[in-house]
Amino acid sequence: MGIKYFAGLLVTATFLQTLNAPATAADAQRGAEIYESRCGACHSIEKNRVGPRHLNVFGRTAGSQDGYVYSRALAQADFRWDEVSLDRWLANPQALVPGQKMGYRLRKAEDRADIIAFFKRLAGQAGNSAPENPGGTSTESGGD
Ligand code: HEC
Repeated sequence: MGIKYFAGLLVTATFLQTLNAPATAADAQRGAEIYESRCGACHSIEKNRVGPRHLNVFGRTAGSQDGYVYSRALAQADFRWDEVSLDRWLANPQALVPGQKMGYRLRKAEDRADIIAFFKRLAGQAGNSAPENPGGTSTESGGD
C-alpha cells in the first residue's frame, strides 16, 4: 500500500469523526457544568429546593414532582418534558406556561441543548440507590 492510500484513510477517519461529533452536537458533560452554574442556585438533581428536583425530569409530566409546590399554572400543565418542551421552557418559561413561577431564561440555544442532553443522560440512570432492581438479580439484603 502506498503513502497516498494511507493518507486517504486518515482523511476518511477524520471525516467520519466530524460526522459523529459535529460542532453543534449537544454535549451532556458541558450541560452538567452549565446546570451546576446556572440552575444550581434554585435546583438540584436530588432535592426539591426553590425549584423542583430534576432526577428523571426528562420524560416526566410537567409539574408532577412529589413534594414540590408548583405554581397553579405548572401544576395544571399536561405535557411531558422532552427535547421540544424543555427547549421552549428554558428559552422562555412564561411563554410556554403563562403564570408559572420560574424567573430564569437561558438564551443560548446551544446551552439549552447541552442541558437537555444532560437531563436525558440522567433519565437513563436509576440514580445512585438503584431502587428498581433493573437487572432482575436479587438485591435483597437480609437473606434469612
Ligand atoms: C431563580 C430560580 C431558578 C433558576 C435559576 C432556575 N429555575 Fe427552574 N424552576 C424554578 C421554579 C421556582 C420552578 C417551578 C415553576 C412553577 O412551579 O411554575 C422551576 C421549574 C423548572 C422545571 C420544571 C420541572 C417540573 O418538575 O415540571 C424545569 C425543567 C426547570 N425548572 C429547569 C431549569 C433549568 C435547566 C435551569 C437552569 C438553566 C433552571 N430551571 C433555573 C426556579 C428556577
